[in-house]
Amino acid sequence: MIFVQFENVGMRYGLGPEILHDINLSLPSGSYHYLTGPSGAGKTSLLRLMFLAQKPSRGTIHTFGKDVTRKNRRELQSLRRRIGVVYQEFRMVDHLNVAENVALPLRIRGMTETSIREQVREIMAWVGLDQHMAADPATLSGGQQQRVAIARAVVSNPDLLLADEPTGNVDDDLAARLLFLFEQMHKNGSTVVLATHNRRLIEQHPHPILQINDGFLERLG
Ligand SMILES: Nc1ncnc2c1ncn2[C@@H]1O[C@H](COP(=O)(O)OP(=O)(O)OP(=O)(O)O)[C@@H](O)[C@H]1O
Ligand SMILES: [Mg+2]
Repeated sequence: MIFVQFENVGMRYGLGPEILHDINLSLPSGSYHYLTGPSGAGKTSLLRLMFLAQKPSRGTIHTFGKDVTRKNRRELQSLRRRIGVVYQEFRMVDHLNVAENVALPLRIRGMTETSIREQVREIMAWVGLDQHMAADPATLSGGQQQRVAIARAVVSNPDLLLADEPTGNVDDDLAARLLFLFEQMHKNGSTVVLATHNRRLIEQHPHPILQINDGFLERLG
């Protein structure tokens, strides 16, 4: 099955210029792609289309086989529950502590308190932050917040996992460990798109590369 399909997609913000052009793309279920390209090329914008935060200004997008350009908000929300996202700027909910932030996607799915607590503890240990579950996210370092953001994206075992520079704020050792987590998610069935500038990580775990230049997409290897 094709999880994400773009046909002749163009995108603009509001009345601004088109910043993504003629994107044709198809991501089969179980695939793993890197997304690379210079700053300002359109990586975050492409991911915004994939996690349904934005509609294309032309062309069509199918997500999990559904034409999302024709879906209303409620229908998009139910598709979005199958997608885990690591935002470039983390987006912690600041009146909730770290554990509550990570629990959010599980709450939305209506899981029991007991299994929420178990799953949150397990993933927090994995990212090395089990000592910080009760912390206010604003008191954490950038790299710690990034790990919370990753924990929140993967905790619900999403069908589609989208990550925008998820290792941009951590040292090489931690980056390798976090990449291993993405590899595990992929082995467990998640379809992954990971935007990164980190050539070394790409070489350590090779996967096909989607390269954006100035709003045009090219597929490498
Ligand atoms: N909210 C917005 N409103 C208007 N224009 C935007 C908005 N967000 C991004 N852009 C523009 O869209 C283009 C692509 O930006 P985008 O954030 O997708 O790039 P990027 O590849 O993610 O860059 P970076 O590597 O710096 O994160 C840029 O020209 C940017 O100025
Ligand atoms: Mg970006």
